[in-house]
Amino acid sequence: MPTALVTGITGQDGSYLAELLLKKGYRVIGVARRSSTVTFERIEHLLDDITIVQGDLHDQGSLLAFLEEYKPTEVYNLAAQSFVPTSWNQPALTGDVTALGVTRLLEAVRYVNPRIRFYQASSSEMFGKVVEVPQKETTPFYPRSPYGVAKMYGHWITINYRESFDMFAVSGILFNHESPRRGLEFVTRKISNGVARIKLGLAKDLHLGNLDAQRDWGFAGDYVEAMWLMLQQEKPDSYVVGTGETHSVREFCEIAFGYLDLDYKKYVVQDERFYRPAEVDLLISDPSKARAALCWEPSVSFRDLVTMMVDSDMARLKKG
Ligand code: NAP
Ligand code: GDD
Repeated sequence: MPTALVTGITGQDGSYLAELLLKKGYRVIGVARRSSTVTFERIEHLLDDITIVQGDLHDQGSLLAFLEEYKPTEVYNLAAQSFVPTSWNQPALTGDVTALGVTRLLEAVRYVNPRIRFYQASSSEMFGKVVEVPQKETTPFYPRSPYGVAKMYGHWITINYRESFDMFAVSGILFNHESPRRGLEFVTRKISNGVARIKLGLAKDLHLGNLDAQRDWGFAGDYVEAMWLMLQQEKPDSYVVGTGETHSVREFCEIAFGYLDLDYKKYVVQDERFYRPAEVDLLISDPSKARAALCWEPSVSFRDLVTMMVDSDMARLKKG
């Protein structure tokens, strides 16, 4: 039975990746950091089948200890301070976890067993103020947030370990991916939860920032399959993963509100508080390399993603 170790197991992607790896017959070791309340909501249904170890990307010793104990053949580094606005409030912490944390984990892998296959969760946020449309593996980066800057470090240190130490270190440059398990502060879930609350009479309006920002949004369940495929290739490489389509926050609102027979213009309030010091205006992927090399295709359309998220929030809120 192959063993995979996943940091960020309690996050959106961690939960979908754990499900996928279990289905494929892996023993799954999930790294969770200590907190004063339980953060296992997304993996509650998996707790009998996975092993949770306590660790933190700040702490080199914990990373070494569980690699030595569980001897994984694959390591997926999904842990990060992943919310872009927080990266302006806590830039040093974001750099410590999202950038230097990658080096700590790569160092632990190199020390314990350099043949472990390593996946780094890189991000389309690195393209920032885009210099090419659409964005592909060779598009130069121009990050617009401390988070984007930190992810660039993580991307390049992964490539550097691949080239310096001949390690199987892969960087997946993933565009935005969403699901009913998305954190409530990210715009898609904020909208699906907000519209469901309005429909059920629990809220009167929804405060958002820039409605004109455009993103390439896909379904998280599809994207974890791409992560796994990257580690099954003959050679380590970097891949862009996205749908190749872009939609605005406004379009997301139109579909989400329209699906519940509501007009978003009557409920959405544009609020200065949710604007960013520097915005990423347009992201759209060119995923041809991943499609050709990994035979990867997204399976959920933009409209189906929106309605899936609204349906899920309606059902959850109705249950009370
Ligand atoms: P998420 O839901 O925010 O999950 C982040 C995970 O990282 C959580 O499990 C969190 O633990 C953990 N974490 C945070 N700080 C940590 C630390 N110091 N030590 C150990 N664990 C820590 O993010 P996601 O959407 O699943 O994304 C997964 C990864 O892909 C992230 O690296 C993100 O930056 C990257 N990414 C995401 C997208 C996207 O659209 N979702 C696109 C490109 C790249 P707690 O539960 O304790 O907070
Ligand atoms: N969060 C949020 N809240 N975003 C809003 C709001 C709001 O009220 N109103 C408008 N937006 C706009 C933001 O300005 C941004 O342009 C867009 O919606 C998407 O914001 P988020 O959903 O917070 O995601 P993100 O694109 O900044 O970052 C996500 O995707 C990256 C990949 O490109 C995160 O998952 C990152 O971790 C990931 O790397």
